[in-house]
Amino acid sequence: MSDVAWIDPGNADQLRAWDTAEGVFWAEEAELFEHALHRYDDALLRAAGIRDGDQVLDLGCGTGSTTRAAAWLAGSGTAIGVDLSSPMLAIAERTAAAIGLPNAHFAQVDAQVHPFPDDELDVVLSRTGTMFFADPRAAFSNLARATKPGGRRVLLTWQPPPRNEWFSSFTTALAAGRQLPVPPPDAPGPFSQSDPDVVSRILVDAGFAAPTFEAHAEPMYFGPDVRTAERFVLGWLLADLDDTVRKQALDALCNDLAEHQTADGIAYDSAAWLITSHGP
Ligand SMILES: C[S@@+](CC[C@H](N)C(=O)[O-])C[C@H]1O[C@@H](n2cnc3c(N)ncnc32)[C@H](O)[C@@H]1O
Repeated sequence: MSDVAWIDPGNADQLRAWDTAEGVFWAEEAELFEHALHRYDDALLRAAGIRDGDQVLDLGCGTGSTTRAAAWLAGSGTAIGVDLSSPMLAIAERTAAAIGLPNAHFAQVDAQVHPFPDDELDVVLSRTGTMFFADPRAAFSNLARATKPGGRRVLLTWQPPPRNEWFSSFTTALAAGRQLPVPPPDAPGPFSQSDPDVVSRILVDAGFAAPTFEAHAEPMYFGPDVRTAERFVLGWLLADLDDTVRKQALDALCNDLAEHQTADGIAYDSAAWLITSHGP
């Protein structure tokens, strides 16, 4: 595990997860993860309105697909992708260099506490990278401070689990008939920013302009075929099961994946909020 210069102790578990096993898996499967959500990218980038010369921050950039797009749009400007995960950032750096994007930069930092310079950013964007902060108010205050007056912030977060078929299907398979504990909705995790009232309050308290929430629904992709999707989902969500439960879970999962085969690959319904807060 590499060292982040300065991390909030509340984010230590996230650093451990993203910088070791989970992050290694995401890095190894970068193409699948990046492709999984690509149908949301157009709306996210349009809302960000990146212009030539902009300074853009991509928060929780992972392996960097949205940072690369932002760097391309920023032209003479710069896109900086920040993340906790050194294996994912290594892929991000390598890919940006390979396609010749000298204005894409990456840094391993805890965005909640990193001392970004004041009033430097024209755009802060994030594709599902903001839901893991131990203290989201502190994190968004830090980002509000770093954004120029009139700057634009665009966050893609998940709507609640019942609107995300991929999540309900995979957790049903994972449960393999058992009753699994439901994590509290405000704990760091994929659905911690799914309630617009809660998120609005946090953003406004942090100094953001009152945000708007646009509902988007897109297919989420898990690979071209059942075999690829099975490897992808097993490594991601079903890693810690004993052998008997694993067999049951695997059978349920494979049947479900086969039912979701489309001409474009294995696709499940998903639903996200596009949260926009421009200015003040
Ligand atoms: C669900 S992944 C999304 C990755 C990427 N944006 C994408 O769409 O493929 C969430 C990312 O947020 C990062 N992250 C979580 N907490 C963070 C923090 N405090 N500071 C910076 N990055 C963080 C994780 O390391 C992880 O890469």
